[in-house]
Amino acid sequence: MSDPVADAAAALSRGDLVLLPTETVYGLAADAGNAEAVARIFAAKGRPRFNPLIAHVDSTGAAARVGEMSPMAGILADRFWPGPLTLVLPTLRDSLVCDLARAGLDSVAVRVPGHPLARAVIGAFGGPVVAPSANRSGRPSPTTFADAVGETGPSASVALDGGDCAVGLESTVVSLLGDRPRLLRPGSVTRAELEAVVGPLEADAGEGHRSPGRLTLHYAPDAPVRIEADEARPGEILLGFGPGVGEAGWSLSPTGELTEAAARLFRLLREADREHPVGIAVSPIPDTGLGEAINDRLRRAAGFIG
Ligand code: TXA
Ligand code: MG
Repeated sequence: MSDPVADAAAALSRGDLVLLPTETVYGLAADAGNAEAVARIFAAKGRPRFNPLIAHVDSTGAAARVGEMSPMAGILADRFWPGPLTLVLPTLRDSLVCDLARAGLDSVAVRVPGHPLARAVIGAFGGPVVAPSANRSGRPSPTTFADAVGETGPSASVALDGGDCAVGLESTVVSLLGDRPRLLRPGSVTRAELEAVVGPLEADAGEGHRSPGRLTLHYAPDAPVRIEADEARPGEILLGFGPGVGEAGWSLSPTGELTEAAARLFRLLREADREHPVGIAVSPIPDTGLGEAINDRLRRAAGFIG
């Protein structure tokens, strides 16, 4: 009997790519130290090389061999790892993450994923694994196995089915390079949850201070996306939110729950796209808690930031 975890670890060791489930979204994974393998990720995704990748490790101890874990980093790791939080740290000189994966920066992004299958593969491989979301660049991240295979499956020699992603949005990215932590990408670990642990975050200085990869149109289906919509215009599909809004089956959350809306967002954008509508309209989503991350993705999908 073949062991999928061992097969995936062996593929990574050979320099091959692996479709890896995480609790946030599916990733396209490679040995972080193998520049040729990492180059294949950039090629498979059509990703600009200035956009660095996240190193995934299976423990806080392993993270400390990749980047400098300050006391603040330790506090955040204790509270949120394993889980959907990525920390941007000063890189170690002998970091196991190659230059190309870091896009030549002297910082490195690292996280311990919550999905047990992801940690098992990383553990069996025995080193950091870089894994961007498994979509082609600019498209919504895949949150189901089928969507991941449809995006970058052909480039991977092993594809692991870990079921539907529980979170559905990419990890929260926090930079620890300055005096105070700075939110680079909102995610399911919310601003309020972070501030409860580390105090006020650095004020948001605008898009220029966001992660390098966040400056282009992102998370976009083929159909144009219209946000803050009260109803569907002719030919549009309306992704509703809350009781009685929109057609059954197309609601992000009939009961108006943000966690459910986050988990369904990218899948419904893809499903709506497959119907070739004139456009995809999306109901207003409250901007509190997890809503900050959902609205961030929606504004980018609609082309409002970029
Ligand atoms: O949930 C996730 O984070 C998923 C799963 C697969 O783990 N991965 C993911 O990776 O979303 P990716 O490559 O699609 O997004 C990584 C983000 C990009 O916005 C990138 O610019 C940023 O992290 N990033 C990576 N290294 C960075 C660094 N040194 N400084 C600032 N931002 C960085
Ligand atoms: Mg991505």
